[in-house]
Amino acid sequence: MSSEYTRERKRHVVFALDELAPGTSRVAELGRRRILVVRDENGALHALSNLCPHQGGPLSGGSVERMWEADRPGEHRRSASRTVAVCPWHNFETDVSTGCSVWEPRPLRAATYRAEVEDGDVVVYV
Ligand code: FES
Repeated sequence: MSSEYTRERKRHVVFALDELAPGTSRVAELGRRRILVVRDENGALHALSNLCPHQGGPLSGGSVERMWEADRPGEHRRSASRTVAVCPWHNFETDVSTGCSVWEPRPLRAATYRAEVEDGDVVVYV
């Protein structure tokens, strides 16, 4: 892992893209921070705090999956575009793109960070 500063955030090369298959996640430990890096099933990268916005559970201990959506009761399907991290403590779902809790009406939100692919590596700006 290597790091350098940019104007606004510190740049961290966290792992090779090959080490993060679509539909999976890994934790990057950056100093005292633990960042959950997600590559969704469409291949897009997301980075957010590993602390659940509900009560601080470790999001990396749960699952990462496409969000369930429904137009009416009794009919549901997996979202084509939204991915959530499901916390192992109380099953709250956090949208990995926004860091927002899906079900909690209060504004619960995990910090999110920019994640890019650069020269075959996953780079996170924290
Ligand atoms: S701490 Fe994550 S759902 Fe409660």
